Amino acid sequence: MSKELEVKVPDIGSYDGVPVIDLLVKVGDRVEKEASLVTLESDKATMDVPAPEAGIVKSIKLKVGDKVSQGDAVLVLELADEAKAEHSAPKPAAADAAAPSPQPSPKGRGGESPLPLGEAARSAGEGAPSKVAAPSKLAVTIPDVGNYDHIPVIEVFVKDGDVVEKDAPLLTLESDKATMEVPAPEAGTVSGLKIKVGDKVSQGDAICTLETAGTVQGSVAPAAADRSVPPPLATAGSPRGTGGGQGEGSKPAPTPGKPAEAAPASPLPAPSATDTIPYASPGLRKFARELGVNLARVSGSGPRGRITRDDVQSFVKRALSTPTPAAPVSGTSGIPPIPAVDFSQFGSIETKPLARIRKLSAAHLHRAWLNIPHVTQTDEADITELEAFRKSQSEELSAAGGGKLTLLPFIMKAVAKAIQAYPEFASSLSPDGESLIFKQYLHIGFAADTPNGLVVPVVRDVDKKGIVQLAQETGELAKKARDGKLKGEEMRGGCFSISSLGGIGGSHFTPIVNAPEVGILGVSKSSIKPVWDGKAFQPRLLLPLSLSYDHRVIDGAYAARFIVLLGKLLADLRRLAL
Ligand code: COA
Repeated sequence: MSKELEVKVPDIGSYDGVPVIDLLVKVGDRVEKEASLVTLESDKATMDVPAPEAGIVKSIKLKVGDKVSQGDAVLVLELADEAKAEHSAPKPAAADAAAPSPQPSPKGRGGESPLPLGEAARSAGEGAPSKVAAPSKLAVTIPDVGNYDHIPVIEVFVKDGDVVEKDAPLLTLESDKATMEVPAPEAGTVSGLKIKVGDKVSQGDAICTLETAGTVQGSVAPAAADRSVPPPLATAGSPRGTGGGQGEGSKPAPTPGKPAEAAPASPLPAPSATDTIPYASPGLRKFARELGVNLARVSGSGPRGRITRDDVQSFVKRALSTPTPAAPVSGTSGIPPIPAVDFSQFGSIETKPLARIRKLSAAHLHRAWLNIPHVTQTDEADITELEAFRKSQSEELSAAGGGKLTLLPFIMKAVAKAIQAYPEFASSLSPDGESLIFKQYLHIGFAADTPNGLVVPVVRDVDKKGIVQLAQETGELAKKARDGKLKGEEMRGGCFSISSLGGIGGSHFTPIVNAPEVGILGVSKSSIKPVWDGKAFQPRLLLPLSLSYDHRVIDGAYAARFIVLLGKLLADLRRLAL
């Protein structure tokens, strides 16, 4: 026969009417021993009530918003077989099988334990109120946390020199099932801080010394003998006082006239200035930590903005489905960031936001530069005859109202021909790096300089088009680019790119491969140079070429053959017809 166990609210100190803020199970759920069932939360502490045994939830006796006290029914568990056996064994008289202890034996839980909500508050109240007549030093220690040892410190809100108000949070302690703050017992200045994030603390461990300002009205005075005060764990204060888990969202105690500063170094990412203190149960914090989620960046959909398990899961789903944002200029990819410099110290400055295109292309170029092992092969092509032909044809074309014939369409056509001979230049590496993808089309992009930055419109099926058509298309696309009217699809699908700076000047340069393409041709300004023909120097028009390629895909010899062929094609256009 199945055995049922009514789970009750355990000892939560002297506190009554603690709100239930989360139900973590529903009827029919199978729960493991120690699994969190409900979360209770007071002003300063959050605690999950764990299952005393494994079993199936038969009925739930409370709902979110109920206020509960020790002994109130939480739910009924139908015990799993092994738990039944345990439960039928004789129990020590003091044990209460129905009240899962939120403070199980430290040994049984590896030294960590849930914390009672009210224990320390009781002890804090034991100190007789008094007025401090003169400045004095107060040793602040870890209060009574229910006789448990080695509770991890997850946040330290103060540092030496901070001035804190009475009840301002000094630390957050967190065990498996509970999170709580240790507030300042009095107002004063922090000195001799002995605790850092990651320390494991026990009752009586020194936290810091508080130099009280003198007369402190209504403050809790320590016992006269040793002036050593464990602060209360649960007293009135900020309703969001559960603090941020994992060291994120840490905020030092607010101090009048002194701005809040970040908590001591934590192994986790530092919060941004806009991060708020997350509001979540200990179990949820653990869950978030396991997923590497910074709770300060999750918005809570629960009561009073509380973060739920669903919120964390949705956050992770969103993060996974969101494309990687534009990489900042530095500080990513594990490379050391370039130190920030305050340029205003050297003279006046003006900061202008980057245009969208520039930001997008910066991220793209950064990725390509970091991922592709680049090699740049340079050469000079003799375009003396080509240029003579181009000029004569350009005049004819203009006279016929056909527009200008620049060098670019000739280069594009020659590149297409060279790629047909060396198809790896139009391939792409598969994402797993295991194969090469060859395309059955030959679309070529060309870099266009626009007022808002660099864009790369793509001319489709270059191998199937004549030079005049290519001239028209490049002209139209370049105009669209400059007018900011290029459509997304007009910049996609390229197999190879050309970057022509020939209209501007310069000799050679090292273009960055437009990933996932594997090659890009840089073209610089042609100039007349003396070329030895075996008998004499001849004035020839030479076009500087700079071929960058992905060395994972293309060998140096292959690239050299490609650029030599390209030079021959440009030197003698009749080869294009072969
Ligand atoms: N050598 C000598 N002159 C050249 C040349 C070269 N390699 N390339 C072009 N020219 C000449 C042209 O013949 C033209 O001269 P003209 O007015 O006397 O007829 C002049 O330079 C301007 O040509 P341009 O307008 O640049 O036409 P294009 O078809 O050669 O180039 C673009 C079109 C879109 C590529 C070009 O305008 C452009 O934006 N280039 C910059 C690309 C860039 O920024 N690359 C850097 C990427 S990192």
